[in-house]
Amino acid sequence: MEHRDNDDEDNIFSTGSIFANRELVRIGHVPELSRIVGRDNEVRALGQALGPATIGGPPETTTIYGKTGTGKSLVARCVTREAKLEAERNDVAFQFAYVDCSDYRTDAQASREMAHSLASNLNINGDVPQSGLAAADYRDITWKTLKYNNVNSFVVILDEIDTLDDDELLRSLSRAKESGKASAYIGVICISNKVEFRDRLNERLNSSLQDKELIFDPYDAGQLREILNSRADAFEEDVLEEEVIPKVAALAARAHGDARKAIDTLYEAGRLAETAREQTVTSTHVDEAVERAAINRFQSLIEGTTPHVKYILHALAVLTVETPKTDVFRTHRIYNVYSNFADEDGAEPLSEERVYRLLKEQSFLGITESNHTGGGRGEGSYLEHRLLQDPEIVLQALGRAKTD
Ligand SMILES: Nc1ncnc2c1ncn2[C@@H]1O[C@H](COP(=O)(O)OP(=O)(O)O)[C@@H](O)[C@H]1O
Ligand SMILES: [Mg+2]
Repeated sequence: MEHRDNDDEDNIFSTGSIFANRELVRIGHVPELSRIVGRDNEVRALGQALGPATIGGPPETTTIYGKTGTGKSLVARCVTREAKLEAERNDVAFQFAYVDCSDYRTDAQASREMAHSLASNLNINGDVPQSGLAAADYRDITWKTLKYNNVNSFVVILDEIDTLDDDELLRSLSRAKESGKASAYIGVICISNKVEFRDRLNERLNSSLQDKELIFDPYDAGQLREILNSRADAFEEDVLEEEVIPKVAALAARAHGDARKAIDTLYEAGRLAETAREQTVTSTHVDEAVERAAINRFQSLIEGTTPHVKYILHALAVLTVETPKTDVFRTHRIYNVYSNFADEDGAEPLSEERVYRLLKEQSFLGITESNHTGGGRGEGSYLEHRLLQDPEIVLQALGRAKTD
């Protein structure tokens, strides 16, 4: 709980009166199993896979696929944590390791992290060398740790496994028991954000490692509403206006079905209310939070581009806003506006040919779309360009909005 009497205007650290427990809506927070909503079947299926390990038998290996923000990491971690508690109640030595392969991409890094995570779950930190060992040596540390601690069953969560450089770790996990290297039963939970990865994984895994497969679908508005409602106690009582959570849920369901982004939008809306020193979070804050997120995304998209690309996008955005009848423009028309902007900024305009090529590149990045049009008789064909983003967002991101 955050301390309450902290909304004094004169206090530079003042946090206002919006949040009661901000942690609940921050990224990285792993809620309790009881706060997981809308994934009952998946929780149960994973529970069944780990069930045997809670009574000293071999866990089933499971693969989870689904887009980002569909609860894969959360469900895997919570159910595994719960399995360990269940095993404790049965006097069974159950251990697990969590490896986010997107942080540890090579075989050696991932194998070290597995040893590390196991050691830290056993409270024997400090036994794993930070570097210098080969992958196989790090794995030997794991096998030894399991043995010295009389572990019956060991579950390894390999999150974002599609970012792992090779399959050595997976292969050795699947063989460790039968080859006599490890004494414990070993199970793996493989998680991938890419459903396309499935064929490759199936090819690479030996069939004994493919007990179970779960697909996590994007959340619908109802599920997102439940997820957000279960975190509403992040806010002080009566601070969230009634329409806020349904609105965030509806927008998120329409755009992506990603719970992480939905929670983040709710948090940002709260922060906007807090910064403005308002007493409630309203649907206007939600609109603003969504718009800010779009601006931020666009800004990072154009971060590395040259000033000329920015003049071009500025020109196209202005044309789009100021021309009511159409949103497609020929290169030449964009070029004229672009040249003015470059001039105003004291930059020598590039050739029209170069601008034409830059526009085609932006279409490659998904910022604009370029199409050939027939033109009239004797006119030849032209390339026409359209901005794929909301022009107001583009202007804001470029720092060119009128309200700035
Ligand atoms: N069913 C759910 N109930 C409660 N919170 C959820 C649920 N699904 C996802 N979340 C939250 O949304 C965020 C993203 O979930 P995560 O498991 O990391 O997604 P993924 O691994 O599929 O990308 C996390 O903060 C998580 O706590
Ligand atoms: Mg994840």
